[in-house]
Amino acid sequence: MSDKLAGRTILITGAASGMGRDIARLFASEGAALALLDRNEAGVRAVAGDLGAAGYGCDVTDRTALGEIVTAAAETLGGLDGVVNAAGILDIAPFADLTAESWDRMLSVNTTGPFNVVKAALPFLSAAEAATIVNIASVSALMPMAGTTGYSASKAALTMFTKCLAFDLGPKIRANSICPGVIRTEMTRYLWENAEHTARAAERVALKRLGETEDVARAALFLSCADSAFTTGTEIPVDGGFSWR
Ligand SMILES: NC(=O)c1ccc[n+]([C@@H]2O[C@H](COP(=O)([O-])OP(=O)(O)OC[C@H]3O[C@@H](n4cnc5c(N)ncnc54)[C@H](O)[C@@H]3O)[C@@H](O)[C@H]2O)c1
Repeated sequence: MSDKLAGRTILITGAASGMGRDIARLFASEGAALALLDRNEAGVRAVAGDLGAAGYGCDVTDRTALGEIVTAAAETLGGLDGVVNAAGILDIAPFADLTAESWDRMLSVNTTGPFNVVKAALPFLSAAEAATIVNIASVSALMPMAGTTGYSASKAALTMFTKCLAFDLGPKIRANSICPGVIRTEMTRYLWENAEHTARAAERVALKRLGETEDVARAALFLSCADSAFTTGTEIPVDGGFSWR
């Protein structure tokens, strides 16, 4: 590894599983000091233990608890140079079947969650020399898909939130989104456990495969280090050629 994050302190949400966990692994191997957060406390503590990081159990919608934890994490790490918002949930349902509770929860976790994290982290990010915010959105932010009114709305709001953050917080803080296509994680287990569904999903994209968490982790690394020093307010699709942006 090339120590691209040496000396940097980064908070990652959703780090007990999937993309958040593999972003944490790659960032640790690149020299970052990490604070990992997830509502799955046992899971996040296990990942943190493996990486010599600090692990915190917290729901990103619990603004009060989150504020206290982000402050404690920043104090433990001696500041915060970056955050990665990977915590998220997906509920696929045709609009007629989508409940108001499900709509509220997706907006609350996927959109307001990153707002809560950035708000709590802002005093520390503002004190850093060059800080980064990376929000994991989705191709669902870029293109309509059946059964995703709630999820797509929550992720489209997240990409525009991120663009506006880039305006408001620049030049010292950069903010970008990643828009993954279908990535093999717990969230998409229902799909990739079925060979026929997997083949259909792979056939739909130019690179003819599902994505892996490492594909997303490498994009998160790019956006969290000096390699992307002149990149802000944009989104990077990591989708194998699906959304064509
Ligand atoms: N897997 C995909 O194909 C895909 C595609 C596009 C975008 N995404 C997005 O990528 C991100 C990571 O998802 P993943 O695929 O790794 O899924 P995952 O289910 O493996 O991981 C999500 C993690 O977020 C945590 N989490 C969920 N709600 C939380 C909350 N309220 N507070 C704190 N932690 C919470 C979960 O406990 C879990 O550890 C999500 O934002 C998801 O919407 C996933």
